Amino acid sequence: MKVQKIGVIGAGQMGNGIAHVMALSGFDVVLNDINEESLDKALVTIRKNMSRQVSKGNISDTQMTEALNHIITTLEISEIGKTDLVIEAATEHEHVKHTIFEKLLPHLQPHTILTSNTSSISITRLASRTDRPERFMGFHFMNPVPVMQLVELIRGIATDDETFLTCQSVVEKLGKTVASAEDFPAFIVNRILMPMINEAVYTLFEGVGSVRSIDESMKLGANHPMGPLELADFIGLDTCLAIMNVLHDGLADTKYRPCPLLTKYVEAGWLGRKTQRGFYDYRGETPVPTR
Ligand code: CAA
Repeated sequence: MKVQKIGVIGAGQMGNGIAHVMALSGFDVVLNDINEESLDKALVTIRKNMSRQVSKGNISDTQMTEALNHIITTLEISEIGKTDLVIEAATEHEHVKHTIFEKLLPHLQPHTILTSNTSSISITRLASRTDRPERFMGFHFMNPVPVMQLVELIRGIATDDETFLTCQSVVEKLGKTVASAEDFPAFIVNRILMPMINEAVYTLFEGVGSVRSIDESMKLGANHPMGPLELADFIGLDTCLAIMNVLHDGLADTKYRPCPLLTKYVEAGWLGRKTQRGFYDYRGETPVPTR
């Protein structure tokens, strides 16, 4: 199946990154959100990130202009119905995703493939509430989308081969690499990454190390590009907690219990970079540890 027009639902951190890479690869993108301000903010972010790629010599000015012309934004979910492939990238709450699909389904063309960028929610369960479980799958990008090479493709129990192959060819057109994952809680990347981040929070909680010593240890001692607490702030502490809860509930093993300190940060609304405070305080010139 040929894909030319892509609908992206949700203009947040992941949605704007997805729109960015799709447009740069020549796809027509319809970016939808319920909030006009989020759409405006997304366009500013895309422009800023593309300018950074231009200044590094990774793309030309013309490529940037063409890519920006490939993106339209809309508050109307019905506009998403006119696309060949939909990637839902709204907040990581299952009821939000079900509600979005419910509103979208009446507008969808029969051939449209429906996917979710969920980082952990069951693809089979999301698919079962739609009219097209065979044309539904997980399409999971990593953050920052323009930089990270991997896309996890997750088949639900009913996903057919044509859907998988079509999504795979889209990823190839982006110049990224597919990892095929089975539909079990948190798939591959987050199944491994989140328990490590959660363990870093326990290491802080139990006083084994400070924010700085934990991050330095993993950067210099394990060659990670970011320390685990810095990475947690980057991903969003609410997202990290939501994924740990999916692992804990879905696998019923106490080794996945979220650290109480992670829960406390989320309760405080200290969600990381997006709220300017998490394990670091980002309100000043340089990030300062909050513990
Ligand atoms: N858009 C476009 N380009 C960007 C960018 C963005 N948003 N962010 C960074 N870049 C580019 C920079 O321009 C730079 O390009 P060049 O290599 O061509 O010079 C390159 O990326 C590196 O950036 P910086 O020099 O600014 O900074 P850095 O070397 O510290 O790298 C980083 C930044 C790429 C984010 C790096 O720290 C890193 O890889 N961190 C780990 C990220 C990670 O683990 N992500 C996965 C999170 S898990 C996930 O996403 C799954 C989930 O479901 C939660």
